Formats: sequence, structure tokens, C-alpha cells
Amino acid sequence: MNLFAWQPNAEYDLVFFSFWLSHVPPELIDAFLKKVYNSVRVGGKIFTIDSRYEPTSTANNHTLKDDKNIYINRKLNNGQEYEIVKVFYQPEQLQAHLIKAGFQADVKVTDNYFIYANGTKLI
Ligand SMILES: C[S@@+](CC[C@H](N)C(=O)[O-])C[C@H]1O[C@@H](n2cnc3c(N)ncnc32)[C@H](O)[C@@H]1O
Repeated sequence: MNLFAWQPNAEYDLVFFSFWLSHVPPELIDAFLKKVYNSVRVGGKIFTIDSRYEPTSTANNHTLKDDKNIYINRKLNNGQEYEIVKVFYQPEQLQAHLIKAGFQADVKVTDNYFIYANGTKLI
């Protein structure tokens, strides 16, 4: 299903997603995280992990137009090429979005490749 059209009809103990948030267009992230918040029970958790921008993790046929540009060309093995959204969040930016959605949030990075966040729905 299209997650932007999805409406949660349950409250879960934990909502987890990996390598998804970086593909959410910036204008949709707050509404999306609010939906996630509404699908977590009070006392429940969110955990997410995604990529940091790190040149050595980018395939050489994937060009980043500009460090600040979130649109990247991705080429498939069959030669088809697509422009995709890929947002590389800084921890404090991601934390601000999670807090805005209602979560108490803690965001960290690993040495090179990953950014990860855990959040709790307190009220
Ligand atoms: C980089 S992959 C990550 C897949 C998986 N979560 C993982 O960690 O291996 C991003 C996934 O998001 C899916 N996706 C993109 N837009 C979507 C949308 N609007 N609704 C649901 N899934 C979507 C893509 O089909 C793709 O499978």
C-alpha cells in the first residue's frame, strides 16, 4: 500500500522502519510522523535507522547533484534511470521532526554510515 495514504487503525507497542524516512519528500515528513505517532500506544516506541551521507557508500553510477540537493539519479541494471528523493538528516534535524510529531526522541549516528533514532510516546 501507499504509506502516505495509509491510515493507522491500531496502536502498536513498537513501530520500526529502516531506510524509508530518507525517501520521504520533506513536505510530507511531519504528516507522516504524526500518523506514526497516532499508531503507537502511550508508552510505546518508534525505532528507525537510515543512511548518513558518506561518499564511500554511494555507488559510482549514483550521482549526487549537489550536497544540499535531495534529488539523486538512480540507475537500474537494465539501464533505466530514475530521480529519487534521498534526504540525509542531521541528528538534530531528525530529532526536531520526531519531537514535533509528539515523541520523546534520541537520535544518534554511527561512525560512518548510519543514523538511528528511538522515540517514546509519553502521553
Ligand atoms: C530503500 S527501500 C528500504 C526497504 C526496507 N525497509 C529495508 O530496510 O530493507 C525503500 C522502500 O520503500 C518503498 N516505498 C517507496 N515509496 C513508498 C510508498 N509511498 N508507500 C510504501 N512503500 C514505499 C519502496 O518500494 C522500497 O521498498
